[in-house]
Amino acid sequence: MAEPVRVLVTGAAGQIAYSLLYSIAKGDVFGKDQPIVLVLLDIAPMMPVLEGVVMELQDCALPLLREVIPTDKGEVAFKDLDAAILVGSMPRRDGMERKDLLKANVAIFKSQGEALEKYAKKTVKVLVVGNPANTNCLIAAKSAPSIPKENFSCLTRLDHNRACSQVAMRCGISAEFVKNVIIWGNHSSTQYPDVHHCKVNVQGKDVVCFDAVKDEAWLKGDFISTVQQRGAAVIKARKLSSAMSAAKAICDHMRDIWTGTQEGNFISMGVYSTGNSYGVPEDLIYSFPVTIKDKTWKIVDGLAINDFSRAKMDATAAELVEERDTAVSFLGV
Ligand code: NAD
Ligand code: LMR
Repeated sequence: MAEPVRVLVTGAAGQIAYSLLYSIAKGDVFGKDQPIVLVLLDIAPMMPVLEGVVMELQDCALPLLREVIPTDKGEVAFKDLDAAILVGSMPRRDGMERKDLLKANVAIFKSQGEALEKYAKKTVKVLVVGNPANTNCLIAAKSAPSIPKENFSCLTRLDHNRACSQVAMRCGISAEFVKNVIIWGNHSSTQYPDVHHCKVNVQGKDVVCFDAVKDEAWLKGDFISTVQQRGAAVIKARKLSSAMSAAKAICDHMRDIWTGTQEGNFISMGVYSTGNSYGVPEDLIYSFPVTIKDKTWKIVDGLAINDFSRAKMDATAAELVEERDTAVSFLGV
């Protein structure tokens, strides 16, 4: 059997972690034959709750789970990591925009970036979930200069899955028959869910999304705003932010990093922009369409972008530039 992978989940006493840990521990993400050491970080006041989570993980009697390490200490949490899933932060409440969270959360990601720099393996794959996810991810990456920026990504897979599901429901088919939607930009209400390159499998044949849905006004209107506003709609209904669907998206994202994307398919994730793709400014974590092979992502290039898409891609980039500049001014990184 392989050596165990050492996986950190932060915010481990919170609601996303509660939906996530079982899937990771039973092999849905790193493989059905891959033993796991789970390191669980939360803040000191949450240690009694975290003890309960640890007991439950033990009680699952999972064959791949070699060890569970609960801690409130960075030097324990970040040591020798293969993968880090950074969830822990303050979630948005009803009526708050993600930008409101910036000040509270960005400081957490600076210190966690510094801890990654100091203690983690240089090959560690870091997925940032805590909001505002793109900017937190950028701050963590900047605070860990000896870890390649390509090792950092942020979660826009939930938006990607939401977009697939909306198209599938409209066509009356299962979401597995919808591929190559794209989420461009920020995991916020300015994100651009784009279906110009999306294919829908209708009775065994790939059909252009616009032809399958047969409602351009919906695809360019309510579809986009529904996906953009879905997080807020869940908060309004549940009085809590999404957790089950976020956990599923985290599993999809990290599994694709570990095992690669399928031939002919691309997925969306927030990755470092060098300024060389699709006219997106450099030094942002921006969601692009990517393929993944050998644990390395590559932005899908050469996709045609029309004026409708260009304007929306630029608007979400402008928001990210503003978020980055505000975060940097708070932190001086
Ligand atoms: P939650 O409040 O239930 O849990 C958050 C946990 O993080 C708490 O246990 C808290 O004690 C812990 N925490 C706070 N500061 C910490 C720190 N410095 N180190 C370690 N742990 C810390 O929240 P949740 O519902 O699990 O959401 C977590 C985050 O994920 C929020 O920021 C939320 O907005 C975000 N989120 C992102 C997406 C996405 O698609 N990117 C989707 C859903 C939620
Ligand atoms: C989501 O998209 O569900 C989360 O990011 C929660 C939020 O703040 O919208």
